[in-house]
Amino acid sequence: MKIGIFDSGIGGLTVFKEIEKRFPKNDYVYLGDTARLPYGIKSKKTIKNYSLKNTDFLVDRGCEIIIVACNSASSYSIPILKKRYKIPIFNVIESGVNAISNSCSKVGIIGTPSTIESESYLKLLKKNKKLKKIISESCPIFVPIIEQGLYKKKSVHFLIKDNLKKFQRDQVEALILGCTHYPLIKPIIKKILPNVTLIDSSVEVANSIGSFLSNTENIGPKVNFKREIFFTDKSKYFEEVLKVMFKNLNYKVKLVDIR
Ligand code: DGL
Repeated sequence: MKIGIFDSGIGGLTVFKEIEKRFPKNDYVYLGDTARLPYGIKSKKTIKNYSLKNTDFLVDRGCEIIIVACNSASSYSIPILKKRYKIPIFNVIESGVNAISNSCSKVGIIGTPSTIESESYLKLLKKNKKLKKIISESCPIFVPIIEQGLYKKKSVHFLIKDNLKKFQRDQVEALILGCTHYPLIKPIIKKILPNVTLIDSSVEVANSIGSFLSNTENIGPKVNFKREIFFTDKSKYFEEVLKVMFKNLNYKVKLVDIR
């Protein structure tokens, strides 16, 4: 199976790494739209257009399944992608929402301004009648903190804590990490909210893919399966961020122009 994954940039590699670790016997094409990132502060129209272009690229390369790793892209483009392409389209929003346990009554969501503004998580969560309270908060400061590795500094933990105070005060039982970057600060969030179940979209989307792929196909060592990593722009800043976020990524990165 050839699996295509796209994100606005580098963060979606959290999703790629989780899925290829669990299902190694597949070919993977990853596209990070670094030329047009960030998506998290852009409009619905722009994000939809970018998502269509990204999916066209992956479909042209023969991908048979598409995974939208970016929460901001998933928030606005899933209906149009599902309508346009006749192949399975997975995304982080539906998978994240499906992971909320039935016994949960108070849930929190954090994400980029676009994701929170779209109410994509909220709309799906509202279908769960057992939920009594849903609290969301956009945390635009988290992406730069993670990209620049600043979360490793103790002093920055206060800033992260301050952004999460609503969830501490309202004692949510689960918190959806609605952005590709957030799994990288999961241990810090866990320290701030020790009793809260953290929903990691990369893990949840991998669970959704798992039921789709056959088990036997994915057992055993990986041999001759291809991994292709494409970015739409490469700069010195980008190289630094890649090193900070994914120092063990052993794949060569290729540049592509999809405009
Ligand atoms: N990948 C984006 C998301 O998950 C975060 C980075 C961006 O704003 O482009 O929403």
